[in-house]
Amino acid sequence: MSNAYYAPGDQRAAKVSDLFARIARRYDFLNDLQSFGLHRLWKRRVVKLAQIKNGDRALDLCCGTGDISFALARGGAATTGLDFSAQMLEVAAQRQSHLKSQISNLKFLQGDAQQLPFPENSFDIVTVSYGLRNLTSWERGLDEMFRVAKPGARLIVLDFGKPANALWRKIYFTHLKMSVPLMGWLFCGDASAYAYILESLKHYPAQLAVAEKMRALKLENVRVINLLGGAMAINCGEKAK
Ligand SMILES: C[S@@+](CC[C@H](N)C(=O)[O-])C[C@H]1O[C@@H](n2cnc3c(N)ncnc32)[C@H](O)[C@@H]1O
Repeated sequence: MSNAYYAPGDQRAAKVSDLFARIARRYDFLNDLQSFGLHRLWKRRVVKLAQIKNGDRALDLCCGTGDISFALARGGAATTGLDFSAQMLEVAAQRQSHLKSQISNLKFLQGDAQQLPFPENSFDIVTVSYGLRNLTSWERGLDEMFRVAKPGARLIVLDFGKPANALWRKIYFTHLKMSVPLMGWLFCGDASAYAYILESLKHYPAQLAVAEKMRALKLENVRVINLLGGAMAINCGEKAK
């Protein structure tokens, strides 16, 4: 079944942008609701894998409302959160302005993850959380992550995954097909925006292909960390020194 927010090829980015413009205000609330708060743990894991060191520069792509960006900056990295959605970035900026103690080493920037406005070898850490799946070309996104990463940099991807176990995959996909859009409809007034998760996942080859691409880029220590039996996954690797 087609989805109002999914289109292949050139139309993809405009549709994705519409989607996040529509749900930006409710995004954080629905994330907590749909994952029972677990996305916070998974994101913490991403930040741990980033192994932040003194003086590190971090880039958080498709940063949305900024969860990972805030955590990287709090961990001590001079962080840039980049996203193409003005509405998602507006929420991130509001969150930043409401903080009791200001984070000075964090800035948000509007831009395209597939065409990054940075020279090569710029960052020690490059993360993307629930973003790669939304790009017109996830491979192009990884190529860009690789390009702007310094030798020795950590590249980390968190996203929905595809469980290897057929029964678990069926149960999980049924959840994405039925309950997730229902919650989207109840709390956001838009079932399609949340049915999009399954649609986009069907077109995304997920953790195994991301690992393969990381190896093709000659990243070192390439790893797949499956969460919830592969329903979520973290891919990580290091750019060779
Ligand atoms: C599901 S949200 C993830 C937000 C955040 N990283 C998180 O984990 O909660 C996906 C984000 O990717 C952004 N995005 C999608 N395509 C993009 C692109 N080509 N360039 C930059 N951002 C993009 C959307 O605007 C949206 O904010």
